[in-house]
Amino acid sequence: MDFQFTEEHLMIQQAARDFAQTELKPGVIERDEHQKFPAEQIKKLGELGFLGMMVSPEYNGSGLDTISYVLAMEELSKIDASASVVVSVNNSLVCYGLEKYGSEEQKQKYLKPLAAGEIIGAFCLSEPEAGSDATSQQTTAIDMGDHYLLNGTKNWITNGGTASVYLVIAQTDVAKGHRGINALIVEKGMEGFSIGPKENKLGIRGSDTHSLMFTDVKVPKENRIGEDGFGFKFAMKTLEGGRIGIAAQALGIASGAYELAVQYAKERKAFGKPIAEHQAIQFKLADMATQIEAARMLCLKAAWLKDQDLPYAQASSMAKLFASEVAMNTAVEAVQVHGGYGFVKEFHVERLMRDAKITQIYEGTSEIQRIVIAREVLK
Ligand code: CAA
Repeated sequence: MDFQFTEEHLMIQQAARDFAQTELKPGVIERDEHQKFPAEQIKKLGELGFLGMMVSPEYNGSGLDTISYVLAMEELSKIDASASVVVSVNNSLVCYGLEKYGSEEQKQKYLKPLAAGEIIGAFCLSEPEAGSDATSQQTTAIDMGDHYLLNGTKNWITNGGTASVYLVIAQTDVAKGHRGINALIVEKGMEGFSIGPKENKLGIRGSDTHSLMFTDVKVPKENRIGEDGFGFKFAMKTLEGGRIGIAAQALGIASGAYELAVQYAKERKAFGKPIAEHQAIQFKLADMATQIEAARMLCLKAAWLKDQDLPYAQASSMAKLFASEVAMNTAVEAVQVHGGYGFVKEFHVERLMRDAKITQIYEGTSEIQRIVIAREVLK
């Protein structure tokens, strides 16, 4: 057991912290207000290697471990969860899926520019009628010999408008149930592929969330990931790692809100002394600090298991379940510590409170995480 970070871990953490302060913080309130995608910031994150963090350098990645990814996600998410979700989806759901399960041709053609941050990707599983119940895919990919004919609609797709490459989960053979599902690589601009308007959301308002429509899109056979019928397992395996990224995002939202609360409590005076000297506030800060540390340990444990090539489905769901609840509770309490100031945009905590909510919903709701954990516990 070793709780020490390596020099490299600390360097990545510092680089992400500096980037968040200098590049993400300016303009974060305006981007949230106007639902503006952080395009310039994502481009820079790509140039710095944050969009393909765990991909091998052979495919233009940074070749780092999952612990580094958790540390970077926490730091970026403290300041801008709309930017960090792009980092998470591109790394965990798109690059990881392609590197682990894609063909050599797919890696050369798609993974390399994705890992270099030249383009970004999207992961398309959710549908109007299939969110938690992911085996009930209505999108169809009919086998036409040399290509699949793709028809259907996907909902709530992160990077939906800005991505160039989309990993789309679709049903090829209904009779085979989840074993008849495939994962296909779809390119923006393929005939019959259209993108709906950007969703107007409660939180992570800068991120780019859209519905996608596929009408008789011809997807070449070589764009299928893995064997015929591997699509559902592909989605589940990929989401196992994705949940570590979102857990780390939730951790970052919690620690961002906590740091603001500590700073404010030391500055704000009431009843003749800084509010940090009142026990009512101290108890809140102590609870926040304890919960955040526990969430951090769960995130790092899941990351460590993944890096050791050990099973991590249960650990990643535990990390996501716990960290997302800590994010929500901490952000609400941080607003409370700020009193009236917490309710106005300039103080940042109200945004973190709105952003926290999505971590309990996407990449599997808290209820789904409990299902995954219970299944593992009862095995
Ligand atoms: N790894 C490998 N295989 C897995 C697996 C895993 N983690 N989980 C399930 N499977 C396999 C099962 O073994 C089974 O295969 P066999 O029959 O061959 O044994 C098959 O998949 C079906 O599994 P289940 O019977 O357990 O399926 P289920 O219908 O009961 O559902 C579920 C399981 C856990 C609830 C799953 O549907 C699920 O995770 N749902 C939530 C989906 C989700 O997270 N959506 C988020 C969308 S992505 C997103 O939000 C991205 C974004 O934009 C930010």
